Amino acid sequence: MDFIHIKKLYQDMDSYNEQSVTICGWIRSLRDSKSFGFISINDGTYFQPVQVVFDNTLENFDTIRKLNIGSALIIKGNVLVTPNARQPFEIHAESITIEGTSTPDYPLQKKRHSFEYLRTIPHLRPRTNTFQAVFRVRSLIAYAIHQFFQERDFVYVHTPIITGSDCEGAGEMFQVTTLDLANIEKSPNEKVNYKKDFFGKEVNLTVSGQLNGETYAMAFQNIYTFGPTFRAENSNTSRHAAEFWMIEPEMAFADLNDDMQVAEDMLKYIISYVMEHAKEELTFFNQHIDTGLIERLEHVLHSEFGHITYTEAIKILEKNNDAFQYKVHWGSDLQTEHERYLTEEIFKRPVFVTDYPKEIKAFYMKLNPDQKTVAAMDCLVPGIGEIIGGSQREDDYDLLLARMKETGLSLDDYAFYTDLRKYGSARHAGFGLGFERCVMYLTGMSNIRDVLPFPRTVGNCTL
Ligand code: 4AD
Repeated sequence: MDFIHIKKLYQDMDSYNEQSVTICGWIRSLRDSKSFGFISINDGTYFQPVQVVFDNTLENFDTIRKLNIGSALIIKGNVLVTPNARQPFEIHAESITIEGTSTPDYPLQKKRHSFEYLRTIPHLRPRTNTFQAVFRVRSLIAYAIHQFFQERDFVYVHTPIITGSDCEGAGEMFQVTTLDLANIEKSPNEKVNYKKDFFGKEVNLTVSGQLNGETYAMAFQNIYTFGPTFRAENSNTSRHAAEFWMIEPEMAFADLNDDMQVAEDMLKYIISYVMEHAKEELTFFNQHIDTGLIERLEHVLHSEFGHITYTEAIKILEKNNDAFQYKVHWGSDLQTEHERYLTEEIFKRPVFVTDYPKEIKAFYMKLNPDQKTVAAMDCLVPGIGEIIGGSQREDDYDLLLARMKETGLSLDDYAFYTDLRKYGSARHAGFGLGFERCVMYLTGMSNIRDVLPFPRTVGNCTL
């Protein structure tokens, strides 16, 4: 497999000038005349294709010129740097081997396809320039996040996917049941009917790894999770998915301010990392997807995030209530339009909104001295709205128990959680970063369906 990656050719084209190389890849487009032709070929290592020139000195010239888009080839040829041409270099083919042909009904033709159409072929869309760039950047962001936390000695904890608890208390869970399989109908000891009751209780797909994460933070001090999360929210919007990935750090001996500092440092780290390692992709997004992207990201790197309490935010938003579809008042949850107004019109940079009314937040958040609000924070960013949700946790045993009773949670089911407040309770805080929203933020893509490889949203689970 001595193939030169197209990415390498783009990076070091001068050193390959007039050298013979062998590349592999798939045809993006093919034009031919009687005696020569051009193939645009992509090998997946770089989101831009390379132009290959071939002529009738090739013994299989007539076969090659009739190939359909999508065919897989191996090409040996000479690199020629072309500073005055549209493409910076091309390859003059000495031989072309066909690895696999494609049929004329190949759904990706040379013309520009709409994102809506491409969503109907999630198995093929990663072959387009835009999705090559999106999913490479998605991969880089994942790497940057691990690097950020590992460099700071956070332990990566794999929290379970199947769980008996509802972390957010919103009841938006997918239940897990067994299939009606005859061979698991009876357990060997006949005490449990596996068909109906595999786990001996109702279980669901996790909405958040936080509660399990907290138990490990009480042992390792600083931990993070990074895994799939499931929510049966009936929200058919451009920023909600039924299956998405979440990063949830949890830090013992940390309060809400520490929490916000880690969140800000992490977002800045991710932005710097992507700006350094995906320059070409960012330039592409800036040209074709969102013209203000690079300027906005650079601005974030050089500014402090804003801070505002929920109560102050409501005062600002109430002045603009006429312009909102959903009118706000103290006690109402913020909708995307309010979040975007705050971050895009008022702060013009990311902003933390803190200290929300306890009624609209989860049971585990620490009660503030005013008894009305909790030590919660949401980080809002321009273009998206909420990207991070976090809080300092209630570490007082009695207050937590009281809150759990108020919200109707079973104390038995959550005994593991209240135990943490019995055995060496410590102040602690954490947050959840919505991974897809982070990818949207860094690419300028405006729909969550276009940053998930195989999106699962209301009414859609293709593949
Ligand atoms: O604010 P959320 O619900 O917070 C939690 O789940 C906490 N347990 C986190 C913690 O403190 N450890 O969700 C966190 C983030 C949101 O800010 C959002 O970015 C993302 O997860 N998110 C979604 N992303 C895509 N689709 C959905 N349906 C989402 N719901 C939440």
